[in-house]
Amino acid sequence: MTMTNPSEPVIDNLPPEPVVIPHPYALRDLLPSEPESPEITRRKETLLYLDGVSVSFDGFRAINNLSLVLQKGEMRAIIGPNGAGKTTMMDIITGKTRPDTGDVYFDGTIDLTSHDEADIATMGIGRKFQKPTVFESHTVEDNLALALAGPRTVFGTLFGDPARNGEGRISEILDITRLSRLRGALAANLSHGQKQWLEIGMLLAQDPKLLLVDEPVAGMTDAETEETARLLREIAGDHSVIVVEHDMQFVRELGVKVTCLHEGAVLSEGSLDHVSADPRVIEVYLGR
Ligand SMILES: Nc1ncnc2c1ncn2[C@@H]1O[C@H](COP(=O)(O)OP(=O)(O)OP(=O)(O)O)[C@@H](O)[C@H]1O
Ligand SMILES: [Mg+2]
Repeated sequence: MTMTNPSEPVIDNLPPEPVVIPHPYALRDLLPSEPESPEITRRKETLLYLDGVSVSFDGFRAINNLSLVLQKGEMRAIIGPNGAGKTTMMDIITGKTRPDTGDVYFDGTIDLTSHDEADIATMGIGRKFQKPTVFESHTVEDNLALALAGPRTVFGTLFGDPARNGEGRISEILDITRLSRLRGALAANLSHGQKQWLEIGMLLAQDPKLLLVDEPVAGMTDAETEETARLLREIAGDHSVIVVEHDMQFVRELGVKVTCLHEGAVLSEGSLDHVSADPRVIEVYLGR
């Protein structure tokens, strides 16, 4: 039973509300928006999201309906025989190669297929190619200082926390990359492994959200290889990392989820033990 409060004003017999006709464009905003699909909700949580990606070169499908998801702060190892499409996948992520079809999203919402290489680098995707590209005639420290002064950090250098920039940041990176003692050394005099670390350091100076590293330990000594696994483990967490590598001992030392690519698609995914026991993986490696 409803009680009527006699002190409340009577709301009957009010004059009719004025009729406002919305502008046709405004009507669009009044319509209920489409509910977000569970797939889109899931995508928004990810750092990198590839779905149904394909690319052909002269009719040859180098990437064939590839789907791969990387979570924020995750490090992933990518293995697979020669020609599996590992480097091409990195080319797609960095905007060097445009996929024919498929979705490529960075940080949940950024459609990487609509950006070029320079844009993508600025957005926070750093890539290390196999051959180190350091400035040989400069010291280790100067190489890092030059990388810190890159376009992405100009704002940060001027207005950011000084400890995160300049001197403080250089010392931090020298520490991570095991180069503190070689601060004043010419890059030309570094070992192959140390040059690789310096280049990783130069990428870190740009503070990327995602770091792509293609075959980092090729040509390294066993000791350097082990140290590189430790170094990358330190970096992961603050940064997401994708490491392509053929060296299985190194992949084991990384201790992360592994994706095995073959003929441009995911053949197997999981722990290294799971992937290396997968009969399909054994077949493609033995069949080489
Ligand atoms: N720009 C291109 N033009 C023509 N073919 C290409 C191009 N880029 C890659 N391919 C071909 O696509 C396939 C995948 O190559 P990709 O370099 O991605 O393999 P990968 O997994 O990185 O191999 P590896 O372990 O040898 O580095 C190969 O057959 C390669 O020849
Ligand atoms: Mg490759």
